[in-house]
Amino acid sequence: MSLRLAVLGSGSGSNCQSIFNAIDDGRLDAEVVLVLSDHEDAYILERARQRGVPAEYMDCGGFRNKFPLEVQEAVAARLQELQVDLVCLAGFMRLVKEPLLKAFPRRILNIHPALLPNFPGVEAWKQALDAGAKQTGCTVHYVDAGMDTGEILMQAYVPVLSGDTPESLHARIQVQEHILYPAAILSAISRL
Ligand code: GRF
Repeated sequence: MSLRLAVLGSGSGSNCQSIFNAIDDGRLDAEVVLVLSDHEDAYILERARQRGVPAEYMDCGGFRNKFPLEVQEAVAARLQELQVDLVCLAGFMRLVKEPLLKAFPRRILNIHPALLPNFPGVEAWKQALDAGAKQTGCTVHYVDAGMDTGEILMQAYVPVLSGDTPESLHARIQVQEHILYPAAILSAISRL
């Protein structure tokens, strides 16, 4: 039986698209049953709607980064109602806390654009460039209550090239993300 996934994202949703693509070409035996975003106009919601996947906006009450606990409770209840097996954070910019972590223990994944534990937090590709790193990459990890601190599931390396700009480096990292995330989801599914 194929697994039921939910995807949470704040932005363009290219990683969500890579999950859709992996399902369509048979790399991933799963179904995305819900896409949620904290931005009403995020393109990730549009991608879901184009595919006929329910896409919903979660109102975080005007807070820029906070993920209010009552919203997390409501999201946990919604995901449980839909019998979601695995929750995939894909460019989701808020910290997940107990209501969701307790409802989905070891069942929430995140993709981060650096080789964790190096460069957690925002604009990790820029952090790598500023630090003069020779290589960086991307990481899929289980989510815990910290910022990008959960157990690492899979990583891919990306060299930093001379002349790289934050944009060129992030673009090459994203190419690897789109390969890594579906593979890591498959691996997480096999460990459930
Ligand atoms: C990705 O680089 C991801 O690693 C980071 O945010 C970006 C989201 O991109 N957490 P997208 O919305 O999936 O295109």
